Amino acid sequence: MRIDVVTLFPEMMAAVSDFGVIARAINVGILTIDSWNPRDYTIDKHRRVDDRPYGGGPGMLMGPEPLAATIDAVHAKHGAQSRVVMMSPQGRPLKHSDVMRLAATEGFVLIAGRYEGIDERLINSRVDEEISLGDFVLSGGEIAAMAVIDAVSRQLPGVLGHEMSAESESFAEGLLEGPQYTRPEVFEGQAVPEVLLSGDHEAIRRWRLRESLLRTYERRSDLLDEVELTLEQKEILADCVRERHKL
Ligand SMILES: C[S@@+](CC[C@H](N)C(=O)[O-])C[C@H]1O[C@@H](n2cnc3c(N)ncnc32)[C@H](O)[C@@H]1O
Repeated sequence: MRIDVVTLFPEMMAAVSDFGVIARAINVGILTIDSWNPRDYTIDKHRRVDDRPYGGGPGMLMGPEPLAATIDAVHAKHGAQSRVVMMSPQGRPLKHSDVMRLAATEGFVLIAGRYEGIDERLINSRVDEEISLGDFVLSGGEIAAMAVIDAVSRQLPGVLGHEMSAESESFAEGLLEGPQYTRPEVFEGQAVPEVLLSGDHEAIRRWRLRESLLRTYERRSDLLDEVELTLEQKEILADCVRERHKL
């Protein structure tokens, strides 16, 4: 996979590309991350990429021309039009399904905005999709782009050490993951649930499923509206709900 990031601060991308599983994925050739600085595509002799907003108002906006030239240069280099995703608080909040959709592509372009944002005409002419990290405003799109890169990269085959590790995580099957424990067996009076020490794989599987359903029900019941539960999951969930409400 190839991810091209359009950013005024290419150095920031090292925070995601130089560490952990993503650095390894880059080293073994599963992933390429390239940064493109719009300042390198200005015709302005001072390499300016921002200007005052028409109609007045605070701050500056990123102008359309350097960004358009940068995106066109990315497409020209690859000889193909990959999907252009802009990081924006006005976009759709990022979900696991978006991560999986992007992970299934050969690559995409991420645009990180700065200042008060980006001229609307650039969005109209070059952006396929706007993605938000949540209902808050960051000072720039780089941290949001890094979150997308991290989440997408760990879904690529071979990136995580254990092939199954992404599959059992929260959202992978529409549910939150249940609680997890490692040594010691007792921490500040809290013992690890006995079933996990039993070696009974079927009992452990059912316990984990129950905890996952219960946690989803208690913390994110909205997720249960979207997921198609199996008969076993429905039965366990009904049992959890009965128990919780002492029915
Ligand atoms: C200060 S913000 C601009 C906010 C814009 N004036 C508005 O009110 O919608 C600058 C840049 O940070 C990025 N950004 C800020 N908040 C974000 C969020 N929640 N998700 C994704 N990107 C965000 C975007 O790339 C945006 O262009």
